Amino acid sequence: MTFSRVFLLSLLALCFAVSAFGLLLPDEVQTLREVAQTLGKTDWDFSVDPCSGESNWVKPLPLNGEENAVTCGNCSLVNGTNYCHVVSIILKQENLNGTLPQELVKFPYLYEIDLTRNYLSGTIPMEWGSIKLLNISLLGNRLTGPIPKELGNISTLKSLVLEYNQFSGNLPPELGNLTKIERLFLTSNNFTGDLPATFERLTALKDFRIGDNQFSGRIPNWIQDWTRLEKLVIQGSGLSGPIPSGISSLTNLIDLRITDLKNGADSTFPELTNMTRLQTLILRSCNIIGTLPEYLGNFRSLITIDLSFNKLSGTIPSTYYGLRKSQYLYLTGNLLTGPVPEWTDQAGFVVGNPGQQTCETGRVNLFSSSLTDNNSGIVPCVGSISCPKLWYSLHINCGGKQISENGNTYDDDSDAGGPARFRKSATNWAGSNTGHFVDNTRSPYYTWSKTSGLSMTNAELYMDARVSPISLTYYGYCLGNGSYTVSLHFAEIMFTDDKTYSSLGRRVFDVYIQGKLVLKDFNIAQEAGGVGKAIIKNFTAAVTRNTLEIRFYWAGRGTIDLPFRSVYGPLILVWLCSLILTYFAGVLSFICKYDNFECLTVLVEGRNVTLPGEIVSGKRNTISLPTNECFYLLDWANELKEDNLLKLVDERLGSEFNKEEAMVMIRVALLCTNSSQKLRPSVSSVVRMLESRSVVQDLESEILDDKKLESMRLRNQESQCLSMDYSLSDFSTSVTDPHPHHLDSSYWEESN
Ligand SMILES: *[C@@H]1O[C@H](CO)[C@@H](O)[C@H](O)[C@H]1NC(C)=O
Ligand SMILES: *[C@@H]1O[C@H](CO)[C@@H](O)[C@H](O)[C@H]1NC(C)=O
Ligand SMILES: *[C@@H]1O[C@H](CO)[C@@H](O)[C@H](O)[C@H]1NC(C)=O
Ligand SMILES: *[C@@H]1O[C@H](CO)[C@@H](O)[C@H](O)[C@H]1NC(C)=O
Ligand SMILES: *[C@@H]1O[C@H](CO)[C@@H](O)[C@H](O)[C@H]1NC(C)=O
Ligand SMILES: *[C@@H]1O[C@H](CO)[C@@H](O)[C@H](O)[C@H]1NC(C)=O
Ligand SMILES: *[C@@H]1O[C@H](CO)[C@@H](O)[C@H](O)[C@H]1NC(C)=O
Ligand SMILES: *[C@@H]1O[C@H](CO)[C@@H](O)[C@H](O)[C@H]1NC(C)=O
Ligand SMILES: *[C@@H]1O[C@H](CO)[C@@H](O)[C@H](O)[C@H]1NC(C)=O
Ligand SMILES: *[C@@H]1O[C@H](CO)[C@@H](O)[C@H](O)[C@H]1NC(C)=O
Ligand SMILES: *[C@@H]1O[C@H](CO)[C@@H](O)[C@H](O)[C@H]1NC(C)=O
Repeated sequence: MTFSRVFLLSLLALCFAVSAFGLLLPDEVQTLREVAQTLGKTDWDFSVDPCSGESNWVKPLPLNGEENAVTCGNCSLVNGTNYCHVVSIILKQENLNGTLPQELVKFPYLYEIDLTRNYLSGTIPMEWGSIKLLNISLLGNRLTGPIPKELGNISTLKSLVLEYNQFSGNLPPELGNLTKIERLFLTSNNFTGDLPATFERLTALKDFRIGDNQFSGRIPNWIQDWTRLEKLVIQGSGLSGPIPSGISSLTNLIDLRITDLKNGADSTFPELTNMTRLQTLILRSCNIIGTLPEYLGNFRSLITIDLSFNKLSGTIPSTYYGLRKSQYLYLTGNLLTGPVPEWTDQAGFVVGNPGQQTCETGRVNLFSSSLTDNNSGIVPCVGSISCPKLWYSLHINCGGKQISENGNTYDDDSDAGGPARFRKSATNWAGSNTGHFVDNTRSPYYTWSKTSGLSMTNAELYMDARVSPISLTYYGYCLGNGSYTVSLHFAEIMFTDDKTYSSLGRRVFDVYIQGKLVLKDFNIAQEAGGVGKAIIKNFTAAVTRNTLEIRFYWAGRGTIDLPFRSVYGPLILVWLCSLILTYFAGVLSFICKYDNFECLTVLVEGRNVTLPGEIVSGKRNTISLPTNECFYLLDWANELKEDNLLKLVDERLGSEFNKEEAMVMIRVALLCTNSSQKLRPSVSSVVRMLESRSVVQDLESEILDDKKLESMRLRNQESQCLSMDYSLSDFSTSVTDPHPHHLDSSYWEESN
């Protein structure tokens, strides 16, 4: 007999066994109808017996997490017939849109209810507290309200999975009565308060996950009693540090993830000496100081080690040679020094961070010291930079190919990415990613595309995105010093905008610009008013050392398993920065000193921006020319002669400035003062003009046109005197620092 025939026969035998099992008790059939009604389950076929396993009472061969099964059991003869009870109801990924049925209490033998990934709303009925359940899973719904204290009465309960809902309130102390519980998953809800002290008694726990909540208080030391624990996940939970010493007794841990502890005091590396079974160790952003423990090198089971964004110092211990069979070691964002060991130089092994400035494949060193450190002016991995020129704008299509939109060219950033990948553009920017999606069951991904169904303007810009599981950083360099507008374009393209569980994902991350937190717990879809909608966030950034750093960081918040496993962390589509026109106005704005401020007003109105004084940070110097050197705009317009215009330049500079550059600025400034909005150049053309001198000449001929000059003259007739208001440090660029600029790290250190 062939194998398949054996298989077929056993399958048939099974079918007979099931159908011979018995019928569902009539009362319970009626209850199932009520349950269907409450859940919004419309396709149960009541013309066949629910215990038959036929029709759609059991969906054969569940795929991709879909599962649909009503299981009967505990049968007995009643009035000569074999009658059975409902013992388990599993309805996964069905997008049911009803509420949780309290009718379940009428199934006396029910031990399992699994409603994973639906669209159910409402609260948990307190009546469930009287059902002798073993397993409850409500993962990925829209459920709200507190957990009823009655659940603490389900003494049989082994697994309570409430992740990815909107439950709130404090955890009831009664849950401490669940002394048989092995799995307690509360991730991604809105729970508040301390972990109840009664939880100390939950010593059967093997797997405890509470990330992405609003808990308060510290991680309690009594977790030391949970000695059977194999997995502990406290990511972005709201709890504070330090990691308690009691953790050292959890020697059965295989997977330990604690990240983003709140207002934690600095503490040394927790004592993990006896946790030799560890495969995943993530202690990110936990304010850990001191050196890396040597014993970790002896933990041969370790696959992923993430100690990034702490304050670890010293060198990588030589014992870490023992980790060469591991796959990931993230040390980004620490204060480590010394060389990166040779043995890390192998495929599949990545070290984010310290010592050397090499950036060979598989051996990436990221210098960034911490999330909030101010921009040091150092670009990791780039080494000595020779700037062929200074740029005043930058456009990047994150995760996508080069495209042109609105007259701007967005640079290609389509590199597939990797767990510690550094990309350097041919021009003046670089990008780096830290992290891989730890629980991803698909092929690794660092970019995401959605090529259809986007309806926003400039949809092309939004089709490709770069995503990151930990941190994504972009560095701009060879940028002219000054104030920039940084426009970050976001749109949620991974979740859906419908009434399915795929729409229930919440992506939450932080954004730092020049080391300053500018967006905290940013949720794209929420800010944009829905999925697939664009949201542009503008920021002002001061570039003082010719570099700009933008970092997107996942602080452990938001859902991580919707619509499928490992969907979380920052997602960015496009970003661009351009010199703010006000900066430009700050460099060369014409202020009517005595009578009115009309010219300035023109400039300000025309560009709809704030006054320079409020924007331009750094050293500014306002110098008015003596009265006898006043110029009427009229005069300049008529005689755009270099000598006249150059009189506008601060006399204290003497002859020590680049005439060509000064002329460009003055001429561009003149264009900007044009009273007719049509004649004033756009921001992008101003930036272009500042970048390439030739364009100005073309545009200048425009301003020389008599009619245009006339309007300008009329507008400014009243002006008595003009002064020039500029930022000395900005404008004197060409005085002290002739091109090309060599911006290597020693240069930066010296200029400190
Ligand atoms: C119901 O059936 C299960 C499995 O056969 C059994 O373990 C349990 O004791 C039964 N419950 C009752 C109350 O008979
Ligand atoms: C069994 O028979 C009794 C007496 O006739 C009746 O009351 C009861 O409803 C029957 N039970 C079932 C499950 O049919
Ligand atoms: C719930 O889903 C059903 C389809 O399963 C649909 O007909 C119904 O309109 C939905 N109800 C709501 C309130 O969305
Ligand atoms: C829990 O069960 C006990 C008896 O088993 C009962 O006295 C108590 O009222 C129940 N508590 C809740 C909150 O339902
Ligand atoms: C119920 O939960 C236990 C404890 O975690 C788990 O081992 C078991 O597989 C679950 N049973 C089902 C049917 O999901
Ligand atoms: C359950 O827990 C509560 C509060 O923690 C306690 O007062 C109660 O006695 C416990 N009930 C049982 C049945 O253990
Ligand atoms: C979480 O709960 C707080 C109050 O405790 C409330 O202000 C906030 O809106 C809730 N957040 C969500 C996402 O429900
Ligand atoms: C580790 O285990 C050893 C041997 O059981 C024990 O002596 C030592 O105290 C343990 N260390 C910690 C930190 O728990
Ligand atoms: C970073 O900049 C902030 C102001 O943005 C300042 O308060 C802080 O002292 C600076 N920190 C360092 C380390 O320079
Ligand atoms: C952001 O800045 C750009 C110019 O850089 C401007 O076109 C856009 O209107 C601004 N958007 C918002 C929301 O301020
Ligand atoms: C930019 O500013 C920094 C510090 O203010 C200065 O050291 C550097 O020379 C400036 N760069 C240029 C190109 O002007």
